[in-house]
Amino acid sequence: GVAKYHEKVIDHYENPRNVGSLDKNDPKVGTGIVGAPACGDVMKLQIKVDDNGKIIDAKFKTFGCGSAIASSSLATEWINGKTVEYASKIKNDQIAKELCLPPVKLHCSMLAQDAIQAALKDYQKKQAKTAEAK
Ligand code: FES
Repeated sequence: GVAKYHEKVIDHYENPRNVGSLDKNDPKVGTGIVGAPACGDVMKLQIKVDDNGKIIDAKFKTFGCGSAIASSSLATEWINGKTVEYASKIKNDQIAKELCLPPVKLHCSMLAQDAIQAALKDYQKKQAKTAEAK
C-alpha cells in the first residue's frame, strides 16, 4: 500500500547513517542478519566492540522499505559509542516513536531491535569461543 512517511523517516532514507559492512570474521565484530516474514525485507547490522564492552563502530545494510532503512540507520546512530549493555536495552517502540512510525510499520522497527539483538548474540558467541581457546 501507499504509506505516507514522516520527514524523519525520509531524512534517514535519503541520508542513511553508517551504511556499509564490517569484517564478519573479525573476532571483535558481531553480525546480525534478520528478516521480516511478513514482507520479506532483510536487515544486516554489525557492531565492533572494544575491550571495555564499548561499541566503537556500527554499520548496517537493509534491503527493505523506507521505515526499515530509517530504523536501522537510527539504531546504528544510537548504539555507536555506547556499551553493549545499553544497546541490548533498545526497544523497537523507542525507534518507532522517534520516527513516528504508523502501526502498520511497527514491524520495521522490530527488525532493527532484532538485528541489534542478533549482532550482540553473535559477538558474545565469538567472545565465548575466544575465551575457550585461551
Ligand atoms: Fe517490512 Fe518495512 S514493510 S520491514
